[in-house]
Amino acid sequence: MTRSTQSASRKILVTSALPYANGSIHLGHLVEYIQTDIWVRFQKMRGHSCHYVCADDTHGTPVMLRAEKEGITPEQLIARVWQEHFEDFSAFHVNFDHYGSTNSAETREHANAIYNKLRDANLIEKRSIEQYYDPVKQMFLPDRFIKGECPKCHAKDQYGDNCEVCGAAYTTSEVINPYSAVSGAKPVMKASDHYFFKLSAPSCQQFLQQWTKSGTLQAEAANKMQEWLGEAGDNKLTDWDISRDAPYFGFEIPDAPGKYFYVWLDAPVGYMGSFQKLCSAKGINFDDYWKQGSDAELYHFIGKDILYFHALFWPAMLQHAGFRTPTKLFAHGFLTVNGEKMSKSRGTFITAKSYVDHIRNTEYLRYYYASKLNGTMEDLDLSLEDFVAKVNSDLIGKYINIASRCAGFVTKRFNGKLGRMSDSDIAALRTVKYGDALESFGQAITKAEANLYASAIGQKLDGARETIIASRIKIAEFYEARDYSKALRAVMQLAEVANTYVNHFKPWELAKSEKEEDLSRLHEVCTTALNMFKAITTYLSPILPVTASKVGEFLNTDVLTWNSLDCDLLDHTINEYQHLMTRLDPKLIAAMVDANKASLQPAPVPHSQQRHAEAQQHDTSKKENNIMETNNYITIDDFAKVDLRVAKIVNAEHVEGAEKLLKLTLDIGEENPRTVFAGIKSAYDPEQLQGRLTVMVANLAPRKMKFGMSEGMVLAASGDAPGLYILHPDTGAQPGMRIK
Ligand code: 2FM
Ligand code: ZN
Repeated sequence: MTRSTQSASRKILVTSALPYANGSIHLGHLVEYIQTDIWVRFQKMRGHSCHYVCADDTHGTPVMLRAEKEGITPEQLIARVWQEHFEDFSAFHVNFDHYGSTNSAETREHANAIYNKLRDANLIEKRSIEQYYDPVKQMFLPDRFIKGECPKCHAKDQYGDNCEVCGAAYTTSEVINPYSAVSGAKPVMKASDHYFFKLSAPSCQQFLQQWTKSGTLQAEAANKMQEWLGEAGDNKLTDWDISRDAPYFGFEIPDAPGKYFYVWLDAPVGYMGSFQKLCSAKGINFDDYWKQGSDAELYHFIGKDILYFHALFWPAMLQHAGFRTPTKLFAHGFLTVNGEKMSKSRGTFITAKSYVDHIRNTEYLRYYYASKLNGTMEDLDLSLEDFVAKVNSDLIGKYINIASRCAGFVTKRFNGKLGRMSDSDIAALRTVKYGDALESFGQAITKAEANLYASAIGQKLDGARETIIASRIKIAEFYEARDYSKALRAVMQLAEVANTYVNHFKPWELAKSEKEEDLSRLHEVCTTALNMFKAITTYLSPILPVTASKVGEFLNTDVLTWNSLDCDLLDHTINEYQHLMTRLDPKLIAAMVDANKASLQPAPVPHSQQRHAEAQQHDTSKKENNIMETNNYITIDDFAKVDLRVAKIVNAEHVEGAEKLLKLTLDIGEENPRTVFAGIKSAYDPEQLQGRLTVMVANLAPRKMKFGMSEGMVLAASGDAPGLYILHPDTGAQPGMRIK
């Protein structure tokens, strides 16, 4: 259900998920911050009171260990990372009203107060539990800091909760020969008191049953919750361990010295802490937004992997501590690049900084993400080729083109002053501004012009009509529903109308004429086209804030708001047109990808893996947490795509005219043997090979070579020194056996 977009001024508080302070912002993160920022800018532009806060998520073991490794304090580390994050967000024009840190007095106070309230409501319980402990480092080990042999496939050096080779999920106690990833020591089991939030309590389960079905979640998210919660009375939720033992970088629990709040307890409280800081700076009343019964709207934008925390733990905490709960959670999907997970080896694990260093214009990415975002939890693909094409054809070819073709005439021929418009022009402009029926545009211009116009737009007129009619209202609805892809489709159709208008009246031809009436028509046409450009810029401004502000300078106006769509620039002096945007050169993308490939280095415990570890204990859908590939590995599924077979070399011969190739006839248990041309002539005489077993890739697409069709590939080892060595399976292997 879409909220009314016409309502009077609303009080809105918006957050994006708090990024961990132990890693860089990358293009995956930016999907969410750009999505949120566009929404917030839209709300502000509509005249609503909207505050957007976020902060670095600073606590936890990974931050503590990384600081130690770098020889600095955690406070020094988080201060440095805060600066980096802040600069990255600013470069992408993510305009927080306050960007804070969870390591703040405000967050600590709220975390303590919430904990005290939960304890007073008998929802905190102390229990002794046994966990792996590193006797050398003298610390308890989170699952991700335990490594060992996978209990299923016996791959070595796997994480304590899942195997990256076979994908199996398990508990740390199942790991064979576990060792501490921190010190390498063999961990021992040790008991310790932990504090639990009693999510299993009937009051929590009942509340969450009702809350998750009350329209606060997208349908897909509500279904997921149903899976986790079960039916009323199933009582599927288990208590949540909210404490960690020292040493830990975090807030000490008020009545439990040596025990710290688990990072996920105080992370969402960071939303409050950051907002509190904004309230102090701006004189906003905190309680108006957070007390139970508040009439303000509260929205959390999050990734689908952290739904569990936001749809279960967080509302249950708020509800039982006397605060209001979120109005809605807006979850989005993950980013893929070129249809695959972001990958360091493919050069597609791209940091915000790397993008800025190579591409510079961050509005391109804002536009591209917006064109793909639709308000659902579906994953979003950044196809780098499509990215270039879309930026160049939509932004430059359709949008900027409107102004660049008319502006010069106004400066040169009319002393920089816009004029007036004819009735037909007003009708045309109304089509772009408000989506008035296109017919009225057609009727207002002469019949002949209308026919020309219709044929110029052709089929598109019919297809576009529904969206264009009442576009102002529709576009607002699309923004409100976070369906930016539909908003942009509508806006680009309006840009096509504007271009058709310009093409139809051809200002460049009018400009050549000596006739007085042509000159005055030129003035009218340019005035109309630039007012069309103003309206389209207004629609685009939540997505392209920098360009919108440059357009404001060029048009010499500060009215690019929704309400000022009504205001036309007539008899108005504008400034000389300056280049607004350049085409995106695909070479820049190639250079960025190459640079990212070149900078390959082993990561410590990466961002997504930390989240993975800490979410796992309550998350039954482990797969969902694997957001991105953050290393050089392939998955077992990738490997399984290669069909490796034992092959018998039934014949080997020289190939006339080929310097390097031998022609092999290989038996892999099929009806007909395969022919493979192999570049191994320098290392083998054909006679040596006949009758031997070797290994071939059987599902490589057949390749037409100069000497015939090659139907596979044999594998051979080589190093820096000369020499080639084909593989040889152990005795007993038979032709056709699968190698896996
Ligand atoms: O998953 C993450 O990256 C967390 N740092 C998000 C925290 S969001 C909120 F709860 F603070
Ligand atoms: Zn395994």
